[in-house]
Amino acid sequence: MPAVAAFVRGWFSEPAATFELRSPSARWGTQRSHAPRRLRVAKVIHETPTVRSYVLETADEANPLHFRAGQHLTLLVKIDGTTHRRCYSFSTAPGADARPSITVRRMPGGLVSRHLHETVNAGDMLLATDPAGEFTLATDPAASRLVAFVAGGVGVTPLVSLVECLLRQEPASRAILLCGNRSEDEIIFRGRIAELEASYAPRLLVQHALHTPPTGWTGISGALDGRRVLDALGEVRADAYFVCGPEPMMQSVREALVGAGIAPDSIRSERFAYANVAKALPTLAAEITFAASGKRVTAQPGQTILQAGIDAGLELPHSCTMGGCGACRVRKSSGDVVASEPNCLTDREREDGYILACCSYADGDVTIENH
Ligand SMILES: Cc1cc2nc3c(=O)[nH]c(=O)nc-3n(C[C@H](O)[C@H](O)[C@H](O)COP(=O)(O)OP(=O)(O)OC[C@H]3O[C@@H](n4cnc5c(N)ncnc54)[C@H](O)[C@@H]3O)c2cc1C
Ligand code: FES
Repeated sequence: MPAVAAFVRGWFSEPAATFELRSPSARWGTQRSHAPRRLRVAKVIHETPTVRSYVLETADEANPLHFRAGQHLTLLVKIDGTTHRRCYSFSTAPGADARPSITVRRMPGGLVSRHLHETVNAGDMLLATDPAGEFTLATDPAASRLVAFVAGGVGVTPLVSLVECLLRQEPASRAILLCGNRSEDEIIFRGRIAELEASYAPRLLVQHALHTPPTGWTGISGALDGRRVLDALGEVRADAYFVCGPEPMMQSVREALVGAGIAPDSIRSERFAYANVAKALPTLAAEITFAASGKRVTAQPGQTILQAGIDAGLELPHSCTMGGCGACRVRKSSGDVVASEPNCLTDREREDGYILACCSYADGDVTIENH
């Protein structure tokens, strides 16, 4: 019997219930201050030759760092006089570790990841906005469900946090974690994942896939794509799927899962990429009405709705400002916008009229439902 099927049969004797994955209002639930917070790097952990974790502690005792598993920080990193914003997901689970960590893969030719790897050491200070993002899981201690997590490379970062959170907070739930990496020395959190497997046995099943496996490798051989994920899961159907990794891998996994009859709404994914600025921007100024407050602001050509609102003194939630995190999501009730793509909005969010204020340029007058 394949490992995943045996794992599932060994646990559930009743059909699994369906679960709400997130609260739609979670993103707006807390008022965020936009002043950056200072975080001291307590320790740097060399996870693999190209990946480092930064263990953080808040430098301001009066402003503790609260986050949910799956959320990220937006670091504000000054390099040669220019401040760059980059998101990094928490790799620790809230409550599980005394201090939170973020984990950064050094991208070939990457500006900020290289800067972090080369210049940031224990004792250094980082600036960041408040935790954001809704790639999260609403846990329920009474729940008994199976959640599958599919990670490609550094995409394991939010997933390992979510896995630990699920297993800690839902004693009757189980998790399958499929991790894809290029080679054995690039497996991120190998030791920690093995410890989680041992601590939470038999509720966690882990399978590693290697693009280039060494001789004698007993895990999955080949890149972790949709076909291999389906092969690994066999007949098993999870109540929810969380996918994070390179774009082609995520697409392949989503297509395979949907093709196998999994409801698209039960598949959640997180992109680590940012939108490219839209090429043909509107050339005329436009009026934006924020219906909740009745405030009206003028967006100049080339100004996003977020910029126009903030310049006019509105407190609009935002984090990465590049279409990567979803913190600036608002619902448009009328008008047209030109958007920078691809961004992190889901098909469902688009159908429901949501836009990202940081990526949207008003093409004529626009009304925003919130704020
Ligand atoms: C919600 C979210 C969470 C994230 N979490 C994590 C995480 O936990 N860990 C993590 O490591 N990353 C994470 N990321 C990605 C991270 O924010 C950065 O994008 C990543 O570190 C690369 O930043 P960089 O400045 O090093 O690279 P950049 O300088 O932004 O470059 C990115 C890539 O593009 C290439 N490039 C740059 N300029 C050009 C150009 N002009 N033409 C062609 N190619 C170019 C570079 O060579 C590089 O490969 C996350 C992103 C998002 C949106
Ligand atoms: S602020 Fe991150 S998507 Fe807009």
